[in-house]
Amino acid sequence: MEIMRRTTNCGAIGKADTGKTVVLNGWVHRKRDHGGISFINLRDRYGITQVVVDSDAGVSAELAALTAELRNEFCIAVEGTVRTRPPSMVNPDMPTGEIEVLAKKLLILSRSEVLPFQIDEESEAKEELRLSYRYLDLRSAGMQRRIKLRNDVAFAVREWMTGQGFYEIETPTFIKSTPEGARDYLVPSRLYPGKFYALPQSPQLYKQILMVGGFDKYFQIARCYRDEDARGDRQPEFTQIDIEMSFVSRDDILTMTEGLMGHVFKKTVGQELPAQFKRISYEDALERYGSDKPDLRFDLELQDFGPYVDSGGFQAFKDALAAGEADRAAAAARGVSLSGGAVKVLVVPGKAMGEASYSRKQIEELEAQARIYKAKGLAWMKVAGAEAVPVLEGGVAKFFEESAQKICAGLGAKSGDLLLLVADPRRKIANIALGAVRSKLGRDLGLIGFDPERKLRFEFVWIVDFPLFEFNEEENRWEAAHHMFSWPQDKYHATLEQDPGSVKGDLYDLVLNGYELASGSIRIHDPELQKRIFNIVGFDPAEAEQKFGFLIQAFKYGAPPHGGIAPGLDRLVMLMAGETSIKEVIAFPKNSFAVSPMDNCPGEVDRKQLDELHLSVVQPKKNSP
Ligand code: AMO
Ligand code: AMP
Repeated sequence: MEIMRRTTNCGAIGKADTGKTVVLNGWVHRKRDHGGISFINLRDRYGITQVVVDSDAGVSAELAALTAELRNEFCIAVEGTVRTRPPSMVNPDMPTGEIEVLAKKLLILSRSEVLPFQIDEESEAKEELRLSYRYLDLRSAGMQRRIKLRNDVAFAVREWMTGQGFYEIETPTFIKSTPEGARDYLVPSRLYPGKFYALPQSPQLYKQILMVGGFDKYFQIARCYRDEDARGDRQPEFTQIDIEMSFVSRDDILTMTEGLMGHVFKKTVGQELPAQFKRISYEDALERYGSDKPDLRFDLELQDFGPYVDSGGFQAFKDALAAGEADRAAAAARGVSLSGGAVKVLVVPGKAMGEASYSRKQIEELEAQARIYKAKGLAWMKVAGAEAVPVLEGGVAKFFEESAQKICAGLGAKSGDLLLLVADPRRKIANIALGAVRSKLGRDLGLIGFDPERKLRFEFVWIVDFPLFEFNEEENRWEAAHHMFSWPQDKYHATLEQDPGSVKGDLYDLVLNGYELASGSIRIHDPELQKRIFNIVGFDPAEAEQKFGFLIQAFKYGAPPHGGIAPGLDRLVMLMAGETSIKEVIAFPKNSFAVSPMDNCPGEVDRKQLDELHLSVVQPKKNSP
């Protein structure tokens, strides 16, 4: 068939091309007919060029007929001459806005049915429809831009890592299950009835074994699979920039990651990042921001209201502290460190004054947010009165009237400020619940803001010194906070077993704008230390042998000290694009129900396929999940 091969593209033509004959291939973005003249906005990956079919300039009957037939999203070829637009017709918003192509010949390459939705900058259509017709959605300028950004980021990653001497090494996607904490996707084996491969939740064990194999700088843009509920920043299959290095300390990995991010941001979106990112300990992050992934695009820090509780008569606060202290003492008697209770407060500037004053309804919405994170309530007070003699009003103020001056001075609260408080016998709950209120305030009050150039802002922060173990109260035992292969900081080695709760690991997360972007650790390479960790978390040696005996075995042969990290590529590109869902940066994502509506995946398979795999399906009973 005739294709009329293109000589240029719809984003490349400018004034300098005036008079040239060009052939363009693309899609009809819009068509407008004005009597004897038709304007076609022709679109391809590179841009939009206006094509004119002008009867004054002589139009063949064939060209007129074809033009009349054109509808949106027809795929066409056009041959014509470039002409400058009259000054009144120049469109400064279009890169090709100074010219148009006067059509001489047109070929319809393929027709389009009536569209389920318009292809605009961003589709207004519902997500389900967008995903069902993803090929149309992908034509939108927004998706085109984001998929390009993703390509550019992946390229910049490879460019930088290779330049630093890293090898990209593929690891298998049919593996034995790795202990990463989520549910595995399984692949039944045809050759070995009843046996299964697992899809990797990450290449964790393989990258550690590559270190034993002597490849001291490894990276991989790796596909990972986790059977967990999808959310804005989660998909059942996603991509990591997986990294591992030998003979390094924690700081080497942090510095390397800062270099990588700096290169990627500069190369792809032209933003300079600081050479070093802030570092906050896990404990400080919880105390100050109520989150281990704080959004540092705004300040608004949590403060401790504990010192003022006794100066007032609010029983809920006193009870929380007393119950927390009792729990702490009881745990201490069993040799377990607990932090006890807390009353935490947020001072929200100006939200108790005039028009900006928060209504009862608004405070109730904040309280609902706090309750999602297990707070028993959200107490509040408003600061009023003169600068020198502040008074507290409303909410629980009646209990603290007498100590108002001391409280306001201590918290740095001024007349017109709103105080929001959460008390809980468990310090972590008070922090996290008020942290959730802080996040909501950041969004509601527009505290995040943009920089003067209207560029997106990127606030990176390292969270370091995570606890190595967490106490599982239901099961009354210690468990690994990240995974079981992370190195306890040296100073705790002598006392690991005595007080697991106090042990900090060489674990780190990189947080960007309130999202966990990357996670990593220095690993255990000493089989003896590994055994002690298994012991503390009550991991049976036989089970350890069965699950990852191969790793322990490998470590017996001169394993180098090593560590690594894995930034999520989808989350990185999502944040760079200013989006809040990773689906916006994945060409073919699953929806929130782990389904791809375009190809109806997952789908049923033939009986024959099941038989070959030695499987039979037992349908769940109605009402079961
Ligand atoms: P972790 O499980 O924390 O660590 O994952 C690292 C990063 O991967 C991204 N990520 C996801 N992105 C999209 N959808 C998901 N379901 C999803 N789950 C994780 C996040 C996260 O920070 N092997 C370790 C890393 C290491 O220790 O080196 C690991 O996988 O951005
Ligand atoms: P009450 O005296 O129980 O009616 O509570 C008065 C106010 O204190 C309400 O706004 C509750 O939401 C709040 N409140 C109760 N318990 C707590 C708590 N543990 N932390 C913070 N606020 C609380």
